[in-house]
Amino acid sequence: MNDNELMNVLKEHGQEHIYEAYQKLDEAGKAKLAAQVEKIDWSMVAMAGHEELAQERGKLEPLSALEVKDIEADKAKYEQVGIEAIKASKVGAVLLAGGQGTRLGSDGPKGKYNIGITKDVYIFERLIRNLLDVTDKAGCFVPLYIMTSDKNNDETIAFFEEKNYFGYPKDFVKFFKQEMAPSVDFDGKLLMEAADSLSLSPNGNGGWFYSMAVTGVLNDVKERGIEWLNIFAVDNVLQRIADPVFVGATIDSGRVSGAKVVRKADPNEKVGVLCLEDGKPSIVEYYEMTEEIINSREANGELSYNFGVILNYLFRVDKLEEIMNANMPVHVVEKKIPYIDKAGNIVKPETPNGYKFELLVLDMIHLLDNCLSFEVVRNYEFAPIKNKTGVDSVESAQALLKENGVEL
Ligand code: UTP
Repeated sequence: MNDNELMNVLKEHGQEHIYEAYQKLDEAGKAKLAAQVEKIDWSMVAMAGHEELAQERGKLEPLSALEVKDIEADKAKYEQVGIEAIKASKVGAVLLAGGQGTRLGSDGPKGKYNIGITKDVYIFERLIRNLLDVTDKAGCFVPLYIMTSDKNNDETIAFFEEKNYFGYPKDFVKFFKQEMAPSVDFDGKLLMEAADSLSLSPNGNGGWFYSMAVTGVLNDVKERGIEWLNIFAVDNVLQRIADPVFVGATIDSGRVSGAKVVRKADPNEKVGVLCLEDGKPSIVEYYEMTEEIINSREANGELSYNFGVILNYLFRVDKLEEIMNANMPVHVVEKKIPYIDKAGNIVKPETPNGYKFELLVLDMIHLLDNCLSFEVVRNYEFAPIKNKTGVDSVESAQALLKENGVEL
């Protein structure tokens, strides 16, 4: 893009201030900024402040889950199917660790956070231990792909190196970086984080498969013959990874995806609920549901929309390839976004000052034909660390880990 083209494109989208900044740069700075502008998806930027552009929900219906009691009854069968798939190298795991953990307020990768009390216990370490429980049982390792972003990639890799991958074989771990997206202020103006750089942040956790493809990591998945990928968040320190029972039940069900869910604590719990939307599986947020839907009950008295997702999904790789280039909804989220002001000073706002644009992994479910809703016991498998204190915090996760016999 030459100077003129750049000026025109920025003008067309009301971003002249970026061109002003551009003119003050040396050649290297100009090239860097122009390359960032070239990658901008303007249709996404145009959504800032226009909630009305968000997609309307279709017709919602309940989706029944494979409940804990059903799973217990067939556990041995499911586990055997899952272990066989793992032994046959058909299962890989993907750790979504590209987020910035702003609520936790730690500068580095969230997985480096130390949740130990009498000794060091890092979040990454806990996750690897959970995976080792499975690989010890299966007698073989599960390839682990770790998604990072430009903001935390080097630090994440250095940490794994320093800690010797917490005992996991290095050959089975691959890192890849996710895409970045620009941020804007509340008037839709692009923010800058340096004189020669837009304010860029990871584009949400929904682009992980696309990023695996563009970074070439997908080749490794294919070469190893992996048919299923288990996606999980960095912050749930209790979760089972490549859980053979979950893998086995999903394979046995003949469905192309599976989602671990927990029974809602009460009808109004603020979780995304797995249900059907226009006949296809879908995850609908609590604020997108009417009171009537939230409170509707089945003949047996149970809530019709009773199961919330915990960001632990299983996807069939061939189906992921089919949907890789599908349009996914863009979520516009208000965030505290560091930026440089007109004088060139870095400002770290205390309250939200603009929008980031994110794709979410939960939207992938709706692109697929079906999904097994697989219930797990909340207190055994769900201890998310989002905040320092209070709900979903380091404190609540520590209590749950102790309850499950983990020494901290
Ligand atoms: P969250 O939605 O909790 O976001 O991520 P976050 O960035 O970790 O934390 P806050 O909102 O800034 O406090 C859920 C999971 O998705 C991953 C996170 O690393 C976490 O495992 N994620 C999120 C990504 O991998 N990339 C992203 O761009 C966003």
